[in-house]
Amino acid sequence: MLELLDGQPGERVLECGVGTGEYLALSVSRAGARVHGIDISRELLEECYHNFLREGLPSRVALGDIERIPFQTGAFDRVYCISTTWYLPDLEESLREMARVTRQGGTIVFDIMNWLHITPLAAHLAGRFLQRFLGRRSDPARIRSHLEVSRILTRLGLDYEVRGYYVLLPTRLPNLCQYSARFSYGLSRSPLRYLGSKLCYVCKVNKGPLKPSQNRLAALADPCCGLETKHESATCRDC
Ligand SMILES: C[S@@+](CC[C@H](N)C(=O)[O-])C[C@H]1O[C@@H](n2cnc3c(N)ncnc32)[C@H](O)[C@@H]1O
Repeated sequence: MLELLDGQPGERVLECGVGTGEYLALSVSRAGARVHGIDISRELLEECYHNFLREGLPSRVALGDIERIPFQTGAFDRVYCISTTWYLPDLEESLREMARVTRQGGTIVFDIMNWLHITPLAAHLAGRFLQRFLGRRSDPARIRSHLEVSRILTRLGLDYEVRGYYVLLPTRLPNLCQYSARFSYGLSRSPLRYLGSKLCYVCKVNKGPLKPSQNRLAALADPCCGLETKHESATCRDC
């Protein structure tokens, strides 16, 4: 999936749900992009902040919810949201926000867990079982279909292309065996891609950044590092 996330030197990039930054944000930043990250977990952001500093890279992280991104309209060239949408209750509102903060001609990359694949389906059902019968508090991972996502993207006016990962294979197998990795990669753009465990969407914002939704308008905007932020809990660590 990393091949889809080629941050170019000088590009303004936002990772939504950055976590500790180790998987994506750091490598995109090493390539010279100006990376920002938001997350709702203060602990993970602290770790992310130090991970950047340890490598001598600028650490631009902010506490914030993807449904109310604490940056101004059209602020970024690329926005990523990887391994995170299954925690988001309202995918449409989240994607609207990502599209809002992406400039015209910019790119959004995100992935979903596909309910047509056995691994996400089993994980979801196990989560529901734990919640229902063992009282686990957290929600099970949200699995979604391509049909649902394509309708959302059409409503938001975003052009997109889809890749499927781990098509017809259990999720971890491609990492273990080079033949299964090749097989999986070969199918990632085939008509069977919709059967992948993860579907990855690369979207183009062609019509100019979307307007914020009504419930988002109230959250805009104190100046901060040339960008703007005003989420009640948002702190831009760059300033
Ligand atoms: C599995 S981690 C993925 C981290 C990173 N993107 C990666 O690929 O390694 C999911 C992250 O999403 C964050 N997250 C979940 N819901 C969020 C929300 N509504 N707004 C911002 N971040 C959120 C979690 O705190 C967590 O750090």
